[in-house]
Formats: sequence, C-alpha cells, structure tokens
Amino acid sequence: MMALQIVRVVLLFSLFVASAVGDEIKNVLLLLADDAGLEMGAYLNKFSQTSNLDALARRGLLFNNAFTSVSSCSPSRAQLLTGQASHSNGMYGLHHSVHNFNVLPNSIQSLPNVLREETNGRIFSGIIGKKHVGAADHFRFDFEETEEQHSINQIGRNITNIKLYTREFLRQAKTQSKPFFLMIGFHDPHRCGHITPQYGEFCERWGSGEEGMGTIPDWKPIYYDWRNLDIPAYLPMTDVVRKELAAQYMTISRLDQGVGLVLKELKNFGFTSNTLIMYTSDNGPPFPAARTNLYEHGIKSPFILASPNEEDRHHETTGAMVSLMDVYATVLDAFQLPIINNSVASNKSLLPLLRKEPKPHEDDAIYGSHSYHEITMDYPMRMIRTRKYKLIHNLNYWSYFPIDQDFYTSPTFQQILNATLHRDHLPWYRSLEGYYERPEWELYNIKSDTMERHNLIKDPEYKNILKVLKQRLHDWQVSTNDPWLCAPHAVLQAQGIFKDNPVCLTLGHESL
Ligand SMILES: *[C@@H]1O[C@H](CO)[C@@H](O)[C@H](O)[C@H]1NC(C)=O
Ligand SMILES: *[C@@H]1O[C@H](CO)[C@@H](O)[C@H](O)[C@H]1NC(C)=O
Ligand SMILES: *[C@@H]1O[C@H](CO)[C@@H](O)[C@H](O)[C@H]1NC(C)=O
Ligand SMILES: *[C@@H]1O[C@H](CO)[C@@H](O)[C@H](O)[C@H]1NC(C)=O
Repeated sequence: MMALQIVRVVLLFSLFVASAVGDEIKNVLLLLADDAGLEMGAYLNKFSQTSNLDALARRGLLFNNAFTSVSSCSPSRAQLLTGQASHSNGMYGLHHSVHNFNVLPNSIQSLPNVLREETNGRIFSGIIGKKHVGAADHFRFDFEETEEQHSINQIGRNITNIKLYTREFLRQAKTQSKPFFLMIGFHDPHRCGHITPQYGEFCERWGSGEEGMGTIPDWKPIYYDWRNLDIPAYLPMTDVVRKELAAQYMTISRLDQGVGLVLKELKNFGFTSNTLIMYTSDNGPPFPAARTNLYEHGIKSPFILASPNEEDRHHETTGAMVSLMDVYATVLDAFQLPIINNSVASNKSLLPLLRKEPKPHEDDAIYGSHSYHEITMDYPMRMIRTRKYKLIHNLNYWSYFPIDQDFYTSPTFQQILNATLHRDHLPWYRSLEGYYERPEWELYNIKSDTMERHNLIKDPEYKNILKVLKQRLHDWQVSTNDPWLCAPHAVLQAQGIFKDNPVCLTLGHESL
C-alpha cells in the first residue's frame, strides 16, 4: 500500500515537471479502422479519395513499415490495448458470439484499466464504436458507446452518431478538466455482405440517401466507376474484383469523413494543440492472402502518428519497423506513465520516432502470432519478419487453410471457388490449392519477392538465414510465454517438476 502511494506521488510530480518544461501532449486520440489496408492517397493509392486521412498524414509521421502482429479483429484490438501478442494475453480469436474469446483472467493490464488505476482516475478514458474485446472487466473505459449499447452500424458506421458521441465525450473531459484517452473504433470498411447484402458488400450503400438506404447526414458518399480502377497485384484481375474495390473505396469515404468529423470536434473543443493522434487499422483488407493471413496484405498496417508539438516531425515518413503491439507503450509514454517492464508486453514507445529517424538495421524485426479468427479456424501461425526476410511457421500445416464466413460469401472468393470447381482459368497469381495447402515453414525474401511466391525453405543458400530466423522466432515465443512453443512436433511441459526448466518433449513424429 505504502509503496503504491509513493509511486503515485512520484508520477504526479513527474507529470507536473514535464508540463512545466513545455511538453504539450496531454491527451491521446486513437482512430482505428476495421479491415482497412493502405487504400489512402497518402500511401499512393491513386483512386481511393481520402482527403481527411491524407491531411492527418501531413500533420504527422506516416509509417511505411507498421505491422499488426495478428490478422484478426479482436486479437488485434487486444494487442493494441495490452501491448501483448495474442498468445500472451489469451485473446486467441474473435470475441463475439460462439467464438467467445476473452483475454486471460489473471494479470492482464489493459490501457483503460492501467490509465485509471495508475493515476487514481486522473485520466478520462472513452471508447466510441467497435470494441469487440473482453471480458468487460479487463477493458473498462470510463465512457463507452459501443456495439454493447447500440447496433454496430449505428455506432460504428453512422458517422453522425460518432460525431455526436465524440462531442459528448469531449464535453465531459473538458468539464472535468481531465486529460483523456479516446479510442474511436470505426466499423468501416468492414464487409457486411454475409449479413445485410441489401446494403452492398461493404455496406457502402447504407446511409447513402439512395432509396431504402436511409441517410447519414454528415456523409457525402464518393462513388467510383469500377471500370476505372486498377487492381492491386495480389488480387484476381477480374471485373468482379474491380466492383468489390469500388464498393470498398466508397465505404472508405465514410471512414475518411468520419475521421474528419472527429478531428473537427477536437478542434472545436480546443484540444488540437495538446492531443497526440494515431490512426491505424486492426488488420488488412478482407481479400485472399490478406486478412487472417500473415502474408504482407494481412499484416501491413496504415499508421499515422501526429504530434501537437511543434518541434516534432511533421509531414514526413518513417521507415522504422514497428508493431501495433507498441501502441500500448506509446500511449503510456504519452501520459508519462512508466511502461510496465515485463518481457511479455512490448515496452517500445513510438514517441522517440517523432524526434529522430533511427538508423535502419538489417536485424530490425517484427513478430506475428495468429491462432484463430473464428472458433473453427484452428490454424495457428508464428512469424518473424525482418527488413528482408519473412519466416512463417504454420503449426497445423497438414490441415487446409480455413476461410471465414464473410470472406467466403464475397464475390471475390466465390469467383475463385467457382473457377476452381469448374477448372476455369482465373487471372490470379495463386491457386486455391496452393492457398489451402501450405507447408510447415515458409521463407520469403520480401525485398525481391514482394508477392511471397518463392518459398526458399529448401534452398541451401538460405540455410544459415533460416537457422538464425528460427532461433529468433523461438526466443520470442519463449520470452512471451507462447503456449504453442513446442507445437506441432513436441509437447511443452512447464508445470510441476518442469516449472523451473520448461522443455519441449518430442512426440516422435520424425520416426513415423
Ligand atoms: C444516423 O444517425 C443520425 C443521427 O442519430 C440519424 O438521424 C440517421 O437516421 C442515421 N442514419 C441511418 C442510416 O440510420
Ligand atoms: C527491464 O527489465 C530488464 C530485464 O528484466 C532489465 O534489464 C532492465 O533494466 C529493465 N528496465 C527498466 C527500465 O526497469
Ligand atoms: C524492454 O524489453 C526488452 C525485452 O524484454 C528488455 O530487454 C529491455 O530491457 C526493456 N527495456 C526497457 C527500457 O524496459
Ligand atoms: C460459375 O462458373 C460457371 C461455369 O464457368 C458459370 O456458368 C457461372 O455463371 C459461374 N457462377 C458464378 C457465381 O460466378
């Protein structure tokens, strides 16, 4: 008790000292998209019109090497809020409905809880839009307007509602004169074709003012002529995909304008000059080799870090390799709270990048740990990605790669499936067979083979590189307490007589 109190006194004192020397960050705003990739002008997408996100990118630092450690919604959100890989925090898959994943009951520290407990309630926390993590006690925000109180479309896609709740949150923060942490979980540009196809594949027509679609007063939909669009190289070169992109981009116009509305509220309340703003997405877009995969389009994240401090970097890009797990430490750092020093959570704040671009090293690495998406999708994968190489370990490599419900019904997947069943030609760089059947290990030279087509695992030239990457991946799994550490060919024993000396005991697969 005594020790805790002393810590608090020291904390308050250090906050005071910091503000006295003119540090201007008082609040943190985290803007999170749902299944968005890099479909933004700032990332050189020529078609998707995102003037608000582009303007935010100019105000801040735009990341070219930001990655999520997991390519699924709830696990990704849990990683942001705990700084931990999904295998450490226990959020192995989706939170809602039959999937029923929650973080582990013990010793999980999440941003809203830490911010409240470590400051005696001095920081006001809020979440508006999609939450999708649990259990509730482990992620208790002071202000919550989420799918737990509203329909997900009204709170996650209706940007007028998002604006109004943001206004209410900021009003309360101002009245209480408390620093705040506000997270906005946009539900755009997630698919919805498997649930409400009448609104379009991405719910892009919902609220557009067209007949039967209702209106979102603050949204001016941007329509795209699919005939004009270029298809990214990783997707089938078909008109079906072009139409999907037109729908996705239209939905992104709602996300983008929602970001604009929130930033305008921030400004109207006078918080622009003391709020750190982050924009990112939980995982990549819902297309093949993207979401639910550790391939590049599944993990590459849009990331903007915009600081109110004049001396910080603005309108610049960074090549630093960062993980979305680092958001946790970044938020704590912004509030000048000590970063919990345990090896399971990332302790890497991104704030130093606002001052100075670090020298790139060949060894710079980010890690991936994906176990489920839906409860039936038992396909755990572990990954290390350096600037040049990516190593993926598919732990259940003998089963077919699983497909989730909303991607399954998508026109893109249906076309791939149909072409496969009818043995028709499809202009796609992968085959469904190769997509389903993956080897235990995949090693790619990401620099020269950006499409991840040439598995180098058996190439003797890469023997040493493979050995080093395997060791680094293993070390990371050890230091983050991965229960899958010994999978699939051994059993991890770590309790009782093995407690002080955990071991992987072979299952004898090699002799079968
Ligand atoms: C969006 O929210 C506003 C404000 O609550 C409401 O007037 C409007 O009807 C909503 N739009 C849809 C499509 O439900
Ligand atoms: C964090 O922990 C590591 C290893 O336990 C230790 O070497 C390091 O000094 C600690 N850092 C801080 C800031 O406490
Ligand atoms: C951060 O964590 C790493 C890995 O656990 C550790 O080696 C390092 O000392 C930590 N740094 C700080 C500043 O706590
Ligand atoms: C599936 O392929 C068959 C044969 O090529 C074609 O006639 C049919 O229209 C296709 N269906 C869909 C949904 O694409």
